[in-house]
Amino acid sequence: MDILDDQRFTVPPVPHATEGVAWLRAHVARFSEGPDHERRRELVLALLGAIEPGSLRRPGHPVATLAEAMGLPRGIVADIEAVAASYQPHDAVTPEADAAVARLVAVAGNDWNEATAARIGILVQACAATRSMIAGNDPPVPTTRRIAPGGEEILVPLENRPFGAGRHECPGREHAVALAEGALSFRNLHNADDPLLLPNAWDFASAAAFVQRGYSAVGTTSLGVAASHGLPDAGGATYRETMALARSLVRLPVPVSVDIEAGFGMAPEPLAAELQEIGVAGVNLEDGRGDALAPLAEHRALVRDFKRAAPDMFVNARVDTHWLGLQEEETRERALAYAAAGADGVFVPGLRDAEQIGALVADLGATPLNLLAQLPLDWLRELGVRRVSTGSLPFRAALTQAVSTVDVYRSGGAVPQAMSYEEAEELCRLAAAE
Ligand code: HEM
Repeated sequence: MDILDDQRFTVPPVPHATEGVAWLRAHVARFSEGPDHERRRELVLALLGAIEPGSLRRPGHPVATLAEAMGLPRGIVADIEAVAASYQPHDAVTPEADAAVARLVAVAGNDWNEATAARIGILVQACAATRSMIAGNDPPVPTTRRIAPGGEEILVPLENRPFGAGRHECPGREHAVALAEGALSFRNLHNADDPLLLPNAWDFASAAAFVQRGYSAVGTTSLGVAASHGLPDAGGATYRETMALARSLVRLPVPVSVDIEAGFGMAPEPLAAELQEIGVAGVNLEDGRGDALAPLAEHRALVRDFKRAAPDMFVNARVDTHWLGLQEEETRERALAYAAAGADGVFVPGLRDAEQIGALVADLGATPLNLLAQLPLDWLRELGVRRVSTGSLPFRAALTQAVSTVDVYRSGGAVPQAMSYEEAEELCRLAAAE
């Protein structure tokens, strides 16, 4: 008989406890047997039964998505991660993890009971395992532990049953698959047959109009955001406006990538945490600093630290050598350095030379190259470019069109066709999660 089906092999026992990680271990299904296990598993099944797995297929951090679906704040991710690192009985419990449990119980209603443990336990169970699946590990959880009838602890391999088996079999399988698919959705758009054509929006309506037309993801344009608010671009001045826009765009049913310039001069960790909490799928992080370029090592460290703080976010490292017309000979070195530091993609606005584009695509290998829509889409496809951004072009085109519409009216001409009032109003109904 399979060890996981055998009643004589039990999960590692945990002592009774009234606070911290020890309390959580002592009140979840995962580390209990017999009637305690049956009762606690029922609580888990009821909570998961109330969440339609398909609703979890959303970009962004999987634990934040699951927390939101369970009526908890998205911002608890860091606490769940801290607890996950101390959760297994063979893991050392850190003071940070104990403090995180206290905060989580408080946010879940402050009842130190089995129902609260079930909610927190689900998120903790989902955390490392789903992240491991997203990272492509197969099986995501290589082994689990059981106590044999003789009392010794044994490792049980999970090769052919990645979600376990028997009475402790993972009850979150479908939820896990949906969460992983959602978290990978933006990354996967870079691996399609055609390059990802990413329109860049400057407000909710422009983004919604792109989504309505069928574009599978939207980015933001820092020029569009800055100029819409009467602020300078690339000067780190639009942090508030960019975050507010990001919060409105994640209501749309597509992945959202946000241009965060050079990180607004903030430490990468809090910025990454905020964007993760908002639920964006990706960011652009540029090495231009005003009219100059950051030293390579400085931007490499920024990319590395940001990526470490938000491993599920698609970090597109922008190399501004061609954009600023500075140190163009460093383009390749910078692109490869940022990719090696963890960037998921590299963006070189202003690069137009076909030979250089082809060579950079080859050098970058699996890391997608992103260019601006400055050359025909067919050429860029042929050259192996995997993402094409419109940048500020739609924003500038909209301004041009707005002004010329009024000019035409003033001169007595026929004003161009535009979407109707109702159609424009309809755009806000595209919001997915309200
Ligand atoms: C790819 C992601 C996941 C993998 C590979 C995975 C795998 C597993 C495995 C192997 C077990 C059994 C452990 C044992 O028998 O010792 C388990 C238990 C569990 N999993 Fe998952 N899991 C994943 C994601 C999730 C998610 C997203 C949820 C919640 C939505 C979840 C909730 C649970 C719970 C509550 C248990 C404990 C069940 C019990 O002891 O009765 N898991 N998981």
